[in-house]
Amino acid sequence: MKRHLLSAGDLSRDDAELILTTAAELRELADRPIKKLPALRGRTVVNLFFEDSTRTRISFEAAAKRLSADVINFAAKGSSLSKGESLKDTALTLEAMGADAVVVRHGASGAPHRLANSGWVRSSVVNAGDGTHEHPTQALLDAFTMTRHLSGGKPTLEGRRIAIVGDVLHSRVARSNALLLHTLGAEVTLVAPPTLLPVGVDSWPVETSYDLDAVIPKADAVMMLRVQRERMHGGFFPTAREYSRRYGLDGRRMATLQDHTIVMHPGPMVRGMEITADVADSERSVIVEQVTNGVAVRMAVLYLLLGGSEPAVGGEE
Ligand code: NCD
Repeated sequence: MKRHLLSAGDLSRDDAELILTTAAELRELADRPIKKLPALRGRTVVNLFFEDSTRTRISFEAAAKRLSADVINFAAKGSSLSKGESLKDTALTLEAMGADAVVVRHGASGAPHRLANSGWVRSSVVNAGDGTHEHPTQALLDAFTMTRHLSGGKPTLEGRRIAIVGDVLHSRVARSNALLLHTLGAEVTLVAPPTLLPVGVDSWPVETSYDLDAVIPKADAVMMLRVQRERMHGGFFPTAREYSRRYGLDGRRMATLQDHTIVMHPGPMVRGMEITADVADSERSVIVEQVTNGVAVRMAVLYLLLGGSEPAVGGEE
């Protein structure tokens, strides 16, 4: 594996399988009364969040703590960043504090690459979401969740059909998933109105469709995406109602899915927009499980990047 995790596209099939297998071992811990392992004792993980986040930030924090790392949480609001400090000076400060891994979320696509490739820090950089670009650990936790339901836990999605539906244009989750799911052998179809598909999507390893009703009866997993209004400047669809009618997942559409098909969403959901409450809370929904799996997957990523020399699990008692 490389020293940084910046893009899902950086992961070879072997890398992805190793992360998923390690996450499966670590996932067992979540069901034990004592969830902590000593694997990263003495290491420092900094969570550097320039953009709002609930799940991703607390998930990385929980992951680092369960591996006994020291965790420093650094949010842009309330720090010197709001006084105009640059990414470079922030990076130098982190370096001075001896960070071993920096987990970064930033509104600008490419910010984690800048941090990793500038020589400002020696630590491993993990992209926790950069602009509309990528969110590789989300893709890993999504793939992990799919393998548990669709492949009996084996780290492969060979021949599985995955539909990713909604605001693909603004979604770093969609891009990272498209890359990783393809690496794991899945067939991905992006479903969106033409205005919400990115230019150049024809170079992604996916099919595209504008017709949700035609795609979902064949899918093994249906991943709904939030309409990211905060990134929209202008009209991408006529009305919210019209959007929901054509691209929302409701009970009527859910009834056309195969029995084994799971429904996913990275969160945060806008209930009533891209997904109705009855679908989000249904038996098929694995949305809460995605959050639980996220901790195990991020533990695996931190453990593997920081080069834990001993096995992650075992020998701790
Ligand atoms: C996503 C994100 O921030 O990219 N959420 C997440 O990390 N779980 C998707 C979104 O904001 O809609």
